[in-house]
Amino acid sequence: MSPIVNGQDNRLMVGIDIGSANITCAIGQADSSINRIKLRGISSTLSTGIKRGTITNRNELIDTLEKVINDTERMANIKITNAFLSITGEHIRAINTQAAIPLNRINGVNGGIVERSINDADIFQVLDLAQAVSLPIDRDILHTLPQEYVVDTLNEIKDPLGMTGRRLEGKVHLVTAAKTAMTNLVSCIEELGITVDGLVFQPLAAALATLNNDEMELGITLVDIGSTTTSIAVYHEGTVQHSATIPIGSSSITNDIAVMLQVSIDEAEMIKMKYASAKSSMSSPDLEINIPSKNGGMNRSIPEKEVSKYVEARMQEIFQMVIREIARANIKDPLTYGIVITGGGAELRNIVSLAENSMGVKVRKGKPINIDGAQDIADGPHHSTAMGLLLWPLYTTDHLNMKMPKNRSIKGLLEKIRHTIEDMF
Ligand SMILES: Nc1ncnc2c1ncn2[C@@H]1O[C@H](COP(=O)(O)OP(=O)(O)OP(=O)(O)O)[C@@H](O)[C@H]1O
Ligand SMILES: [Mg+2]
Repeated sequence: MSPIVNGQDNRLMVGIDIGSANITCAIGQADSSINRIKLRGISSTLSTGIKRGTITNRNELIDTLEKVINDTERMANIKITNAFLSITGEHIRAINTQAAIPLNRINGVNGGIVERSINDADIFQVLDLAQAVSLPIDRDILHTLPQEYVVDTLNEIKDPLGMTGRRLEGKVHLVTAAKTAMTNLVSCIEELGITVDGLVFQPLAAALATLNNDEMELGITLVDIGSTTTSIAVYHEGTVQHSATIPIGSSSITNDIAVMLQVSIDEAEMIKMKYASAKSSMSSPDLEINIPSKNGGMNRSIPEKEVSKYVEARMQEIFQMVIREIARANIKDPLTYGIVITGGGAELRNIVSLAENSMGVKVRKGKPINIDGAQDIADGPHHSTAMGLLLWPLYTTDHLNMKMPKNRSIKGLLEKIRHTIEDMF
């Protein structure tokens, strides 16, 4: 079978989630008749050469990427030429900004003043102004996500196209990142002959794969618990209100277990996966974990409850930081749907119960639900970001990537995006 040429025309989507613990590459194909994306291939491998979103060994990372990309290409029988990448790290910062433009009125037939309606160029201009913040030279914009528009005194407008008024204001969620982190990540993929179509902040991709429309509308926080980072995205009224990264993830639990029990990281990881419970009160009081002896010493056994105490303490710390971040979103109404936890760290036993107790809101585990075929081979919470990357180009309006065509209005483009978002769920 000859390889299919990639690109937006035949609507093949490729996402590469570059995490500290796992790297996942996925290929999806859009089915325009039902407006869904079907998974064509996916492959994951243990990550090397990257920690907390920072490249620690470029050559190792490129080798791992090459392997995972080749595996995915083989599975889907498709040659990858373009891809969207995930990005995370402490260097990522997000703020909400706004800008306004006057809407010049035009003369009517009798010389009277008539108000003209808002066109695509006005919307484009106001978003452009909203993202024109002064940034330090080592930072750049990662996303410019429209939140709402205000026409004169009317607010909470999602699409002002065609409305009339004197003043148009646009509010956006602006995500910025360190230039070096972005360019280095892109260059690793480009070295493999693949064009990077865009970088996507991890929790925003994970949210697309796991949340539904009602949740985004009435309020929810997506918490992606990775290995070295926990990243969050707060949604309300259908748009991102706040996003952030916390530099602690599930590997901190592994490290705690290794230190407390004096075992290797690999042994600690195995103990975490097999025995640890996020709530020590829910772990078995009688079960003892056998720890093989080292250097001829005695075999030891530790009660499961004891191990879970360390785990619970670390998870509580992470959840407290999550609550602090959600408070920064400054949303007056309570978030109706509470919190969705996803990412590999969400696999921890009894994590939902602990999260509900310590954060005092409704919590559910988020799995990729918005990609057809993912339920069979990519249904784990650690697949959420890769699945979300496949949805990103079709379902997100990122002004940063929109260029005003010279002789064409962007109406068609906006129209397309609006419809696909409406039809998505
Ligand atoms: N069953 C399980 N119980 C507890 N923890 C688990 C389980 N399965 C996976 N994990 C943890 O999930 C983490 C990996 O999750 P994930 O693949 O989402 O991380 P990542 O995306 O590579 O990391 P990051 O986003 O921080 O760069 C590891 O720390 C792993 O120990
Ligand atoms: Mg991750």
